[in-house]
Order: sequence, then C-alpha cells, then structure tokens
Amino acid sequence: MRAVVTAQTRDPGPSRPVPVIEIRNLHKSYGSLEVLKGVDMVAPKGHVVSLIGSSGSGKSTLLRCANLLEDSQDGEILFEGEAVRWKGTGLARHPADKAQVIRIRTNLSMVFQQFNLWSHMTILQNVMEAPVTVLGRPRAEVEEAARRYLAKVGIGDKCDAYPAQLSGGQQQRAAIARALCMEPRALLFDEPTSALDPELEQEVVRVIKALAEEGRTMLLVTHDMRMASDVSDHVIFLHQGRIEEEGPPDRLFGAPQTDRLRQFLSATA
Ligand SMILES: Nc1ncnc2c1ncn2[C@@H]1O[C@H](COP(=O)(O)OP(=O)(O)OP(=O)(O)O)[C@@H](O)[C@H]1O
Ligand SMILES: [Mg+2]
Repeated sequence: MRAVVTAQTRDPGPSRPVPVIEIRNLHKSYGSLEVLKGVDMVAPKGHVVSLIGSSGSGKSTLLRCANLLEDSQDGEILFEGEAVRWKGTGLARHPADKAQVIRIRTNLSMVFQQFNLWSHMTILQNVMEAPVTVLGRPRAEVEEAARRYLAKVGIGDKCDAYPAQLSGGQQQRAAIARALCMEPRALLFDEPTSALDPELEQEVVRVIKALAEEGRTMLLVTHDMRMASDVSDHVIFLHQGRIEEEGPPDRLFGAPQTDRLRQFLSATA
C-alpha cells in the first residue's frame, strides 16, 4: 500500500525507515478507567516486538488500539507513516475516515487466543474466506495461496477437515495460515499459545519462530517468556498502562533494571 502524505505524516528522514506501526503517547480509557496512560511504541519492518506484563496491564488493549478495533482518546497511531485521522476529542474521539480504517485493518492480521475459526466451514474455506470476500481476490489464486500457507504451518493434510476435528494446536496453526493468507504488512498475536496444552503450544511456538526468522513484522502479546525471549527483537514490559521498562530481550530478561520487572519475572519463572 502506498503511504498517503498528509499534514500529519512525518518524514522520519533517510537514516530511519518508516516503521510499520508507530504509536505515540496513546491514552485509552474505558469510561472512567484509564487503561493506557501515554504509551509510545514502534514496530519497525521485519522486527518482532513483544508485549509482556501482568494481567490487566493493558497488553490486549494496546494491540486492539493498534489494529483500530478500539478507539483511543489521545495520541497518534501511524501505519507505514500514515497517521490515523481522528474526529472529536476525548471519549468522543473516533477515526474520521472509515476507508482508512478498513485499509489499515486489512493490512494488520490478528491471531487470537481462542482461534475464532468458523465451525461450519472447512479449514481451507476458513483460510480463503477473508481474502475472497474482503479483498475480492480471485478464488483460484486464493485457494493456491491458502493451500501453500496451510502446508507451511504443517497442516496441509487438513484442508477438508472442520475445526472441531482438529487439535487446539492445529486450529491455532490454521488461524495463523488464515492471517498469512491476507498477505498483511504485520501480524498481531494476542496470547496465541495460552489456550493450549504444553505439547501443542510448542507446535505453535515453532511456527511463530519460523515466521520471525523469515522477517515478518510481528506484535506479540504473550505470557510465554521463553518465546518472547527467543523470537523478539524488542520487548516492552507494561505495568498499569505504562511502559515500565523496554529493551532487547537479552537485557530485559537477563538484566532487568526495575523492581517491578524483576518481581514480574520472578513470579512468571
Ligand atoms: N471492553 C472493556 N470494557 C471495560 N474495561 C475493559 C475492557 N477491556 C479491558 N478492560 C479493562 O482494561 C484493563 C486492561 O485490560 P487488558 O485486556 O488490556 O489487559 P491484559 O494486559 O491484556 O490482561 P491479560 O493478561 O489478562 O489478558 C483491565 O482492567 C480490564 O478489566
Ligand atoms: Mg490480554
């Protein structure tokens, strides 16, 4: 997609490529509950950024705001340098341009904890659905891509099965194939392994690692510190809606600077 140049679009200069996602000073409340209290975050192209933190710290909310599934009350969200346009302020702030929202959202594919596959469709139909109906791509071309992505995540033999006939790990890999088939600019994962038994979890971790190695841009919310440590270029520790600490995984996990992160890591070890 071509970045639209607007008054709000800032040129980062030749030394810094335009990130896929950039968030500046984001504030988000649910009624009187302030959940995000001024968060800045950058997901450069080809990088994996993980979000960690206690339950309720705002990780899912940040991911949903980045994907424009949630409104936010203040701050900026930029997709490939293009700032989301807003109308209104505070709790009345909403995106001003529906077409822009759809364009950004279709370029950011989300994978959820609970897979969210259609139970009445086969795995192949699930993977083909959005590229055909939302993007209007030719069915034959999408089927070829869907089969290729299902093979890539290791379930090429499950095309004609229904979700209920698959294990949790297989269903989550189908959900990842479905996200890939949209040919997104970035993948957003919200606890992709949390609903799985440990042995099934590893199947999914392997797929996510392979995607990281091929240079996919990913935002990953996870409770799995080992996965965050293995796949991330950058890790953000959220605490009560603020970034308490962030950095490369070696430093964050190997030499945490704040008491809160030290406490969090010892509680999750
Ligand atoms: N739709 C909503 N309406 C009201 N409050 C919400 C809503 N969604 C989230 N919250 C609140 O916002 C805060 C942050 O929630 P969020 O789901 O982002 O946390 P999280 O870090 O993803 O936690 P977890 O690790 O448990 O998934 C919590 O206090 C939660 O209760
Ligand atoms: Mg969450």
